[in-house]
Amino acid sequence: MAYRVLSSRLAPPSNKLSRRFVFVFTLSLSFTYLCYSALFCSRAVMPRLPGLEEHGCVRAESAGAKKLLQKAPFCAAQQSTRTPTPPSPARNQTHTAKRQPAAQPAEKTARNGTSAQRYGNKKLPNALIVGVKKGGTRAVLEFIRIHPDVRAVGTEPHFFDRNYDRGLDWYRSLMPRTLDSQITMEKTPSYFVTREAPRRIASMCRDTKLIVVVRNPVTRAISDYTQTLSKKPDIPTFEELAFKNRSQGLVDTSWNAIRIGMYILHLENWLQYFRLSQIHFVSGERLITDPAGELGRVQDFLGLKRIITDKHFYFNRTKGFPCLKKPESSSLPRCLGKSKGRTHVQIDQEVIEQLRDFYRPFNIKFYEMVGHDFRWD
Ligand SMILES: *[C@@H]1O[C@H](CO)[C@@H](O)[C@H](O)[C@H]1NC(C)=O
Ligand SMILES: *[C@@H]1O[C@H](CO)[C@@H](O)[C@H](O)[C@H]1NC(C)=O
Ligand SMILES: *[C@@H]1O[C@H](CO)[C@@H](O)[C@H](O)[C@H]1NC(C)=O
Ligand SMILES: *[C@@H]1O[C@H](CO)[C@@H](O)[C@H](O)[C@H]1NC(C)=O
Repeated sequence: MAYRVLSSRLAPPSNKLSRRFVFVFTLSLSFTYLCYSALFCSRAVMPRLPGLEEHGCVRAESAGAKKLLQKAPFCAAQQSTRTPTPPSPARNQTHTAKRQPAAQPAEKTARNGTSAQRYGNKKLPNALIVGVKKGGTRAVLEFIRIHPDVRAVGTEPHFFDRNYDRGLDWYRSLMPRTLDSQITMEKTPSYFVTREAPRRIASMCRDTKLIVVVRNPVTRAISDYTQTLSKKPDIPTFEELAFKNRSQGLVDTSWNAIRIGMYILHLENWLQYFRLSQIHFVSGERLITDPAGELGRVQDFLGLKRIITDKHFYFNRTKGFPCLKKPESSSLPRCLGKSKGRTHVQIDQEVIEQLRDFYRPFNIKFYEMVGHDFRWD
């Protein structure tokens, strides 16, 4: 039919016919060209992200790819590996330490159950929960990982403090598989007080997003001590460890439980490598009273849609701690373990006052630096 109409229309004057023919021909040619170039681009981009910058096809990238690039401006490309990629010279350059054959501990570490995912690729993390110990880092990780765009390692890899010699390939092997639109996360609270951690993380990726869960340093110290005491019941009392000379009010800043809470000192080290805007501070106190509010801010910081809301939490009064509502499909424990929210040892109120006085100047400097009053004083 169409052909008939076309030919009858085209029939009469022959030079009009040839002009039309040329027009249609050119049109189909350009259409073919467009198809080919679209095909070429998507194929060239698909198998390996690293070449993205050099391609003329960048403009043709999908909305999804654009979103990814925004999420991790510089590092997304070098982070993704397709399974059998040979070690590139660039990677060797950044990491000259011992390279262990990438073993398979990863598959074991990756949780099975709801979060097991057999597609996607392992990527270096885009966001890290770097501290602080006893601040509520486990809660933040467990809460944020219910977001469908977040995939996280369940255990603490301790890569940037204890396992750095194992190399980035080892680190990556621990990560869960993710789709390009998903964020990879891990948490290791000791990073925050590890001198080398900021430099090492920046050398992996300058644009890594950092989350620090902070809490009143006095309660944090007591919680820290309570945890140690539950493992080693014969350690000295809290007072003995906290002071060099209590009557003089001389606090022992070499004791880790005290040192960790001097947040401003550690933060200054991080700010030599990261902009303040790359670090998000979660209030450990508000995490308990308003988990949805805190998680809302975490989702904003990570550039995620606010999916985790009030509906996901309930408050367990016995525990005095918020818990996640159990989704139908999940077999994972949704309330944090027994040890979380455990009752602290009783500490003399006078000791608490002395420590408050000790921390006050550090706290104030910290509030000023981060532009937020955590109201610990
Ligand atoms: C890594 O670099 C070192 C020195 O820079 C070189 O000797 C070694 O052969 C390199 N290894 C690989 C796997 O490229
Ligand atoms: C998870 O792993 C355990 C032990 O490896 C196994 O018994 C269990 O069936 C697995 N669960 C799922 C859902 O794959
Ligand atoms: C603490 O300081 C007081 C006053 O200076 C001193 O008398 C006492 O011996 C000191 N105690 C210890 C354990 O050093
Ligand atoms: C609340 O916490 C207590 C103590 O850990 C636990 O025994 C109880 O099952 C929890 N209740 C709910 C509804 O999660």
